[in-house]
Amino acid sequence: MSRFIRMREMDNIITIDGPGGSGKSTVSRMLAGKINSLYLDTGAMYRAVALAAKRHGIDFGDGPGLGGLCKMLDLRFDTNEDPPRLFLDNQDISMAIRGPEMDMLSSEVSAVKEVREAMVSLQRKMAKGAKLVAEGRDMGTVVFPEARYKFFLTASPETRAERRYRERVERGESVSRNTVGEALKKRDRQDETRSISPLRPASDAILIDSTRLDPWEVVEEIVTHLV
Ligand code: DC
Repeated sequence: MSRFIRMREMDNIITIDGPGGSGKSTVSRMLAGKINSLYLDTGAMYRAVALAAKRHGIDFGDGPGLGGLCKMLDLRFDTNEDPPRLFLDNQDISMAIRGPEMDMLSSEVSAVKEVREAMVSLQRKMAKGAKLVAEGRDMGTVVFPEARYKFFLTASPETRAERRYRERVERGESVSRNTVGEALKKRDRQDETRSISPLRPASDAILIDSTRLDPWEVVEEIVTHLV
């Protein structure tokens, strides 16, 4: 493919990266709706791999085994729903991939080289020809480094932990603030220190601190940068 065509495609892609609780999922979804783009939740894809690996009893240290699993995954988003629903082998796994266990397992599985290679390739395939808001940890650095617009959301650790805690409580889970905060810290550390595609802002990403902003204010801020 010529570089020119690739650049044109990248004009249609907005990347939003950031740590857990930075608000990127809510913001990405709202933004995609506002500007009539597709929303790609790449964290959900790593969560699906973790769930499938657990169901198939594949050891998380078995890179080739996980790579083989990824190649066979029948993964599909239903974007007619808001939030989009995720199907694995035609089974709706949108609920099964949430919760503390999948938080940690998805972070572990996402550090495996074979898994990342398979997911990056699938994400680029899903983006082909689409107008897209792509959300994750490495969208601006690795998957779509030539995207026209790149954002990196942050928020104070306390705010991020509080948001996660509220999500859990709203889902009916009984957890303590402290447990949620510690788990979030551990996952951040894992995501930031892994050797492949660690979580970090792209050098040309616009940083937005959402600590004191509600999701719509963040969306408005992002929109001011789009021309
Ligand atoms: O955004 P999330 O919490 O649903 O992501 C789950 C895990 O997947 C997260 O701990 C790190 C990993 N992930 C990743 O490595 N790269 C991405 N682009 C998205 C998520």
